[in-house]
Amino acid sequence: MQKNIKPHTYKTSVDDRRAANQHNSFLLWFTGLSGSGKSTIANAVEIELQRQGIKTYSLDGDNVRKGINKDLSFSPEDRTENIRRIAEISNLMIDAGLVVLAAFVSPYKKDRDNIRNIVKDVNFVEIFVNTSIGECERRDVKGLYQKARTGEIKNMTGISAPYEAPINPDVEIKTETESVEEAVARILKFIEPRLNLKNE
Ligand code: ADX
Repeated sequence: MQKNIKPHTYKTSVDDRRAANQHNSFLLWFTGLSGSGKSTIANAVEIELQRQGIKTYSLDGDNVRKGINKDLSFSPEDRTENIRRIAEISNLMIDAGLVVLAAFVSPYKKDRDNIRNIVKDVNFVEIFVNTSIGECERRDVKGLYQKARTGEIKNMTGISAPYEAPINPDVEIKTETESVEEAVARILKFIEPRLNLKNE
């Protein structure tokens, strides 16, 4: 199949779209346990970027799994496929000239390495929302940890499935000692030079 697929060469490029937007495009990938605060922080970063006139789009586990990935479970294989599809979608959005914010548990290092390959290293910013399992379980915003403890939910990350923490993330957020505002400020500071087209 693949050998008969020959991409058309379009006369507009990602560089044209970035120039039109007057900023660079790349992926902010938020990884961490369920309930760690990924979506909250990603949303706050997006609001601030929009305030600066930056074109953005957010992808998030709970909405993507209701749509394009509704056929996928939480088995290791399906999580790998979940992350692969999101990485490919993010890649298209980077090509479209957007700053993409993606918040997914993404518990396996090999899957996160695969995102880096798909979107290319230079377009990938890994943000580890490092909230302990104890704190996530105490918050239990969606009541999932309680269900995992009673066995109603299988393969729950942090309880009955592993979470492989990033070893060298670009930004590490500790929500137990840092406010959302402080986290957002640190992320914005990190990405500021990357937004600039001249630093591409
Ligand atoms: S991932 O592991 O494949 O990256 P993803 O981020 O898409 O996960 O989805 C995680 C969300 O699904 C969690 O925030 C939680 O609301 C919900 N969820 C339901 N079951 C599980 C489970 N077994 N493990 C983790 N999250 C779960």
